[in-house]
Amino acid sequence: MVNSVRFVDPGKNYRMIKDEIDAAYFEVMEKGDLIDREHLKRFEQNLAQFVGTRYAVGLNSGYDALHMSLRAAGIGPGDEVIVPAHTFVATCSAVVNVGADPVLVDVTNDFNIDVDLIEPAITEKTKGIIPVHLSGYMADMPKIMEIAQKYNLSIVEDACQSLGSSIDGKRAGSWGLTGCWSFYPFKILGGYGDGGALTTDDPEVAAFAQRMRYNGEDRETGEYHGHGFTCLLDNMQAAFLDIKLRHLPDWIERRKIIAEKYRQSLSDLPDLLLPHYDKPGFDHIYQNYTLRSKQGSEFSDYLKSNNIEVLTQFRKPYYKHAALKLEDRGFPETEALSREVCSLPMNVELTDDEIDYVISVVRSFYKK
Ligand SMILES: Cc1ncc(COP(=O)(O)O)c(C=O)c1O
Repeated sequence: MVNSVRFVDPGKNYRMIKDEIDAAYFEVMEKGDLIDREHLKRFEQNLAQFVGTRYAVGLNSGYDALHMSLRAAGIGPGDEVIVPAHTFVATCSAVVNVGADPVLVDVTNDFNIDVDLIEPAITEKTKGIIPVHLSGYMADMPKIMEIAQKYNLSIVEDACQSLGSSIDGKRAGSWGLTGCWSFYPFKILGGYGDGGALTTDDPEVAAFAQRMRYNGEDRETGEYHGHGFTCLLDNMQAAFLDIKLRHLPDWIERRKIIAEKYRQSLSDLPDLLLPHYDKPGFDHIYQNYTLRSKQGSEFSDYLKSNNIEVLTQFRKPYYKHAALKLEDRGFPETEALSREVCSLPMNVELTDDEIDYVISVVRSFYKK
């Protein structure tokens, strides 16, 4: 009988594809191919193809992808970049760490940036926008691209939570100058440690990232093209991720089935707002199943006390952390959802019995 459910279960996921992962491990180890070898190149080709861009460049993390993208766009001191008030802090930190100023904009009830608030936030210093596609559902890219064209802004898509999602069939990470990806273990394409990538159609951006991830060096000529960084995706991680990428389409289908099961079983509860939206053409891949409960922490604590791992990102918005020195201009939707968010377990390792257990615990909370 099920009496606990993990948020994700990397060990169980490994056992589902153990033969393939073990074979890749032994192949890489036997060859001693650790840095910038064929597995990385192959994964980059396959990732680019999956996203629908000409290039993918493997990096150490999603943060590195954001950081590198802003540098490639020439964004630096004196520039402003628009970012959502509700996102993982790395989106904003990348802006700060290139010396630019983040300008925070509130989100709507799908957790993504409110496109109607973008134009009022634009000044003559604005150089870019980082739309974040949160939880597997994309920000309104058609409108954002229109604004970008009108004001000549660079778009860096923070797609770290949305590999595989799309609008009218055009995938996340293929709209802007770059798409930024994280392979942190909790992600839909999770590695065995940190990892990331950027995708782009621009050959100069791809070449820039390829050099800068390797201390500025052009690996063919040995020429240094600038003071760079050490932030290359490991060849071993790339070999593992390439295997997982092949499973991703099936895994996305499984996530959609789980989401539908949650919807069918919970949508009658009036105090829950479930993450099902009706924007035509927008495809949700459910990286996270983040709902809102009017009972906030009382609800999430109840699930935890019944041994269900949930995420409550983020009870405290990042701009409220004093050390970050960000201006809290008041973001009503972010404030409201921060009190209420709760992500239910959502992963391909879940059994039907575990899903039923989560549903029964949620329902028992509302019966109390
Ligand atoms: C929306 C978003 N942006 C950026 C990142 C940063 O990715 P990483 O942890 O790989 O640096 C993450 C991952 O946690 C994320 O969810």
